[in-house]
Amino acid sequence: MTDPNRPLGVLDSGIGGFSVVRQVRQLMPGEDVIYFGDGANVPYGNHTQAEIVSMARYMFSFMEERNVKALLVACNTISCVLDLCRDAVSCPVFSAVQAGADAAVASGAGRIGVISTVFTHNARCYPRQILRQSPRAVVVLSCGCPDLARLVEHSLGDPAGMAKVEADLQLELDDLVYRDRVDCCVLGCTHYPLVEDSIRRLYPGLDLIDPAREMARAAKADLERRTLLREGSRPGRLDIFTTGDRDEYALRARQVGLEASSVSWYPPLGS
Ligand code: DGL
Repeated sequence: MTDPNRPLGVLDSGIGGFSVVRQVRQLMPGEDVIYFGDGANVPYGNHTQAEIVSMARYMFSFMEERNVKALLVACNTISCVLDLCRDAVSCPVFSAVQAGADAAVASGAGRIGVISTVFTHNARCYPRQILRQSPRAVVVLSCGCPDLARLVEHSLGDPAGMAKVEADLQLELDDLVYRDRVDCCVLGCTHYPLVEDSIRRLYPGLDLIDPAREMARAAKADLERRTLLREGSRPGRLDIFTTGDRDEYALRARQVGLEASSVSWYPPLGS
């Protein structure tokens, strides 16, 4: 249990968690990372709670078998049902929603917008967590986006696909920005930071909060506290597993600036 050479686990419904891996790479370049994206079942945000819990527990067990020293649940949707999954691993678990709420409260903003999947929106975990933690009165306006994660998953680098992503972003975000006049917007789904450039171009004055940064920071602090941080000059490995299309995952990783050591297919739950 005290071996700093054990890997970190990062999981997501799809490629969205690559936004968390990027932050891990920046803050903890020496760590080996095992990534699991459930490409066969993405998007999670339109599934029932029971389905999300089963699929998430399957990925948690995968990580437990690989003896990860910490698990970063990059998926906000899974983070909403974390209490029903946590017992499937023995290591510390980090929640995207907790990280996003911490960052939103720390920003000091008074009117906080959150965009997320429909499941995360309906579960109200962001408003609950932010209101519970905020030392002063704040307003949290949440918006569930039924199509955005799926569009991002398959559109990076494709101009026609990215045009659809941007049209969908405007459909979902215009009201938050122009009618509700939020001070900032939490990117409450890991897929959205992957199109941060588009969001910044469409809404130049809007402060964006990406839970990935806070998540990597919290995980690093935990590893330091447990003296499990992997130091040294050797860059960490990134081994990607997906139940989806191996080649697409290899391409997506490259497109977001990640260098994968390996990309492997893994059978989906129930196959
Ligand atoms: N990327 C995931 C999240 O952070 C969910 C996207 C989806 O599968 O619907 O919520």
